Amino acid sequence: MKILIIGNGYLGNRCAESWENVILSDKRIETVQDVEELINEHNPDVLLNAAGVVGKPNVDWCETHPMETVKGNTVLPITIAEACYNKDIYMLHMATGCVFYGQSYHGGPWTEEDYGNPAVVYTKSKFAADLALSALKNVGIARVRMLLDSKPHPANLLDKLSKYEKIIDVENSITIVDDMIDVFYQLLEKKAEGIFHVTNPGSIKHKEIIELYKKYVNPNHKNEWIKEEELVRLGLADKRRSSNILTSVNLSKYNIKMRPIKEAAEDTIKKYAKNKKQLLA
Ligand SMILES: NC(=O)c1ccc[n+]([C@@H]2O[C@H](COP(=O)([O-])OP(=O)(O)OC[C@H]3O[C@@H](n4cnc5c(N)ncnc54)[C@H](OP(=O)(O)O)[C@@H]3O)[C@@H](O)[C@H]2O)c1
Repeated sequence: MKILIIGNGYLGNRCAESWENVILSDKRIETVQDVEELINEHNPDVLLNAAGVVGKPNVDWCETHPMETVKGNTVLPITIAEACYNKDIYMLHMATGCVFYGQSYHGGPWTEEDYGNPAVVYTKSKFAADLALSALKNVGIARVRMLLDSKPHPANLLDKLSKYEKIIDVENSITIVDDMIDVFYQLLEKKAEGIFHVTNPGSIKHKEIIELYKKYVNPNHKNEWIKEEELVRLGLADKRRSSNILTSVNLSKYNIKMRPIKEAAEDTIKKYAKNKKQLLA
């Protein structure tokens, strides 16, 4: 299977370095023709869209740059999907599980069948793409969130949490990056259609992640715990962050399984400790 990845950022690179027979493109995409030219040049079997606008230094940037955000997260995936449609190429799109805020209206974990309640520019722009792409055939939409990675990176949840002096202790469904890469490969191989919650089963609290960080990475780590509503009040974020618990009903339709989060998080943080030591050596 030859895979073309659009989006030469954190997750595009993590996937590209893990797979064989992959082309990671850093071409700027503005039009359907830009994508068709790439497809003509590389003749891939499938395409992964890992391009998007996540905001730098953080997602609050999207609040003050709504047009750039909508272009990158809504218009761009639809543009890529049109080229894939014209060329009959399966497309897997990277979406976010942060389109859900808080408790679901049915009381259980949010499933792929549930309608999102996005509250900020970033999540609105991502949900708009999900809605449009979910109307198309030969397209998969993979929702990931809060990425915990065995490799140090500024966007890794562990790097982020371990740098914050004040942390909110929320409980969330999160995605282990190594598992995400494996699930994406299977979705691409199976040309799986529809929406998929690519989060590890179960949920984990920030406190549990920090405990594992102290156990395996830095026993001397210290931070202050604050209440969720204090995050914006103390000026640590402009807008509230999404916290939620998700489940997948659609991955099992394709026989795809993920490790339970507590087991996967411990294994990942152990590997992270090793990788960090090697980086510092
Ligand atoms: N990281 C997370 O925590 C997270 C969580 C859930 C979902 N996601 C989704 O996963 C995807 C990848 O995220 P990431 O963390 O890898 O972000 P990233 O490191 O910022 O990578 C995104 C890449 O897309 C590129 N890009 C933007 N517009 C483009 C265009 N018109 N043509 C070609 N490339 C373009 C960016 O290039 P420039 O930087 O040069 O503009 C950047 O290299 C995004 O769609 C994001 O919404 C990420």
